[in-house]
Amino acid sequence: MSEERKATLTVDGKSVDFPVMKGTHGNDVIDIRTLGGKTGYFTYDSGFLSTASCQSHITFIDGDKGELLYRGYPIEQLAEKCNFLDVAYLLRNGELPNAAQKADFEKTIRRHTLVHDQLTRFYNGFRRDAHPMAVIVGVAGALSAFYHQGMNYSLVEHRDVCFQRIIAKIPTIISLAYRYTTGLPFMYARNDLDYAANFMYMMFGVPCEEYKVNPVLSRALDIIFILHADHEQNASTSTVRLAGSSGANPFACVAAGISCLWGPAHGGANEACLRMLEEIGDVSRVGEYINRSKDKNDSFKLMGFGHRVYKNFDPRAKLMGKVCADVLAELGLENDRLFKLAQKLEKIALEDDYFIEKKLYPNVDFYSGIVQKALGIPTSMFTCIFALARTAGWLAQWEEMITDPEYKIGRPRQLYVGAARRNVPDISKR
Ligand code: SDX
Repeated sequence: MSEERKATLTVDGKSVDFPVMKGTHGNDVIDIRTLGGKTGYFTYDSGFLSTASCQSHITFIDGDKGELLYRGYPIEQLAEKCNFLDVAYLLRNGELPNAAQKADFEKTIRRHTLVHDQLTRFYNGFRRDAHPMAVIVGVAGALSAFYHQGMNYSLVEHRDVCFQRIIAKIPTIISLAYRYTTGLPFMYARNDLDYAANFMYMMFGVPCEEYKVNPVLSRALDIIFILHADHEQNASTSTVRLAGSSGANPFACVAAGISCLWGPAHGGANEACLRMLEEIGDVSRVGEYINRSKDKNDSFKLMGFGHRVYKNFDPRAKLMGKVCADVLAELGLENDRLFKLAQKLEKIALEDDYFIEKKLYPNVDFYSGIVQKALGIPTSMFTCIFALARTAGWLAQWEEMITDPEYKIGRPRQLYVGAARRNVPDISKR
C-alpha cells in the first residue's frame, strides 16, 4: 500500500496535514474538506480556477496537450468511428455499446421522440420572435410537469427511462422551437431515420413533399453533436450538478444547464462568433478587432478564442474546422466568405504575440457557427444545437453525482466583505 501523500498547511503557527488524492490523469488534488473544521479558514477560488468540485469518471481534458477523452477514448477516434448515440451511451454507461446494445438503444430512442401533445401548446405562449433558447429553457423545464410524476431516481430503471426520454425528446423540443419561430407546421420524427437525420428532417422537412437527407450533411451534424457532448465540469455542467445536488429532478436540471449554456462566454459563443465575423466583414478589418480584443478598456473579446482549460489547441476546433471544410465542399461553398475570413483571422491571431503569450487558441465555437450556417441552421439556433448535444453529458454527470455515495448538496461558503454588524436606525436618523 503506497504511503498516503499529504500536503501541509502552516497557518497561525500551526501545521495541519491534508491528504493528496491522485487521479488517472491530470492534476492531483488536495482534499481540503476538513480545512474549515481544522483551521477555521476557508479557501478562496472565485471562478474555480484551482478547485475540483467532484471526482468523475466521465471526461478528461489535458489542456496543455489539447486532448479530450470521453471515458478514456480520444475525441478524434470517437468522431471517426462512432455516432452520437454511441457517445451518449458511452458517457452514461462507461463503455461503448456492442452491436446488440447499440441496436436496442437506437430503437428505444426512436420510440421516445414524441412529446405529450399538450406540451406542444406551450410554444403558442411565446412570441414568434422569441430567442429559441428562451423557448427551450421553458419547454425543457416543463417536461417535469409531464414525465416526473412517480419517478424514483434511486432506481436505475427509472433513471433509464428518464435518460431515454430526454435524449429522444430534446431534438423534438428544439426543432419545434425553430418551426414555431418560422410559422412552419410542426414536424414529427420518422422512425426510419437516424438521430441526426431525424433532427434535420424535423427542422427542414415540410409535410408537402418527401425530405431527402444528405448523408454527408447529417453525418457532419452527428459529429458536431459528438464534439459538444461533454466537457468535464464546465459552467453548465456544474450548474446541472449543483441543481441536482438539492434533489431537483433531471428535467429541471437540464433546464438549468440550458440557462447557463446560453451565456456568450459559454455556449452562446458560437452565435456571438458568427455575428462577430459578420461585423468584421473583411480581412482588412481583422487587425482592428484583434487590437480591440487586446485593449483592457474594451470589453470586446475574440469570440471562439480562448479557454479556461485548453492552453493549446481545442481538439474539437480542429475537428470542427475539418467538418466545416467537408460541408462547404459538399455544398460547393469552398469559397464561403465567412469561412475564408475565419481562417485568416485564426492565422493572424495565432501569430500575434498577445495571443501566443496568453495561450489563446480557437475553441469549439470558432468554426461551429460557420458550418451550422452552411447546414441551414439559423444563427439564433446555434446554442440550441450545443444544448441538444450537451444534454447527453449533463445527464451522465447528473447520474454520476446522484449515485455517488459521497454526494452532498452543493453549498459553497464565501468571504464576507459587506457592512459590519450594526443596528437599524430610526427613520428620522436614516
Ligand atoms: C465554451 O468550460 C468549458 O469547457 C466550456 C466549453 C464546453 O465545451 O463546455 O469548452 C464551451 O464555453 C468554449 C468557450 C467559448 N467562449 C468564447 O469563445 C468567448 C471568448 N472567450 C473568452 O470569454 C474566454 O477565453 C473564456 C471565457 C472562454 C475563458 O475565460 P477565462 O479562462 O476566465 O480566461 P480569462 O478571461 O481570465 O482570460 C485570460 C486572459 C485575460 O487577460 P488578462 O486579464 O490575463 O490580461 O486572456 C484574455 C483575458 O482578457 N482573453 C482574451 C480572450 N479570452 C481570454 N482576450 C481576447 N480575446 C479572447 N477571446
